[in-house]
Amino acid sequence: RLYDALIDGGGYKYIISGLGNTLFITFFAVLIGILIGFIVAMVRATYDRTGKGFLPDLICRIYLTVVRGTPVVLQLMIIFYVVFASVNIPKVLAAIIAFGLNSGAYVAEIFRSGIMAVDAGQFEAGRSLGFTYSQTMRLIIMPQAFKNVLPALCNEFIVLLKETSVAGYIALQDLTRGADIIRSQTYDAFPPLIIAAAIYLVMVVIFTKLVSILERRLRSNER
Ligand code: ARG
Repeated sequence: RLYDALIDGGGYKYIISGLGNTLFITFFAVLIGILIGFIVAMVRATYDRTGKGFLPDLICRIYLTVVRGTPVVLQLMIIFYVVFASVNIPKVLAAIIAFGLNSGAYVAEIFRSGIMAVDAGQFEAGRSLGFTYSQTMRLIIMPQAFKNVLPALCNEFIVLLKETSVAGYIALQDLTRGADIIRSQTYDAFPPLIIAAAIYLVMVVIFTKLVSILERRLRSNER
């Protein structure tokens, strides 16, 4: 059955191209997410510590509340069917934007906790050595914060890898939708769905392993 559905029936083509789309979307969405998350975290930390930038902070708070308070599937559909309703943008691009915007909100919290995990004394030391606020942030706090959050950022890739499986809601042929197309054409659900799940699983297991190696490396050069 597996052979019939995937090889004989040509189903592997949907799996391969679907997998390509899944990885492509995930990769760029993580990049956008990290960029947005970083900016949002900086705006929020600046307001926290200096009281400057009330309006940017307010905008960031609204962004965080809305993005984390609504399902990512709906955000995806709204981006594609509402925001870009009149312009014809590629579905993959809409998905990258939607998942990137979504990810940014979660990454902002990752960065925030990473910044807060740096001892407050580090900040005071920077200021008392004559560094300005932004120098202290850039030269003392961020390098340490970045190291703290590196594993969590890699985890975000894993989260998005699975999260993008809802891309089929805008008829985008990712890995999950590819498998579903095979199911609907062959009337045999077992082979494509199990194979797709297995592919996600293998990727997640490999990536999880890499993250734990990275974590160990980061810890060992602490000494
Ligand atoms: N499953 C969540 C939802 O439907 C989205 C979680 C996204 N998480 C992330 N770290 N990007 O809203």
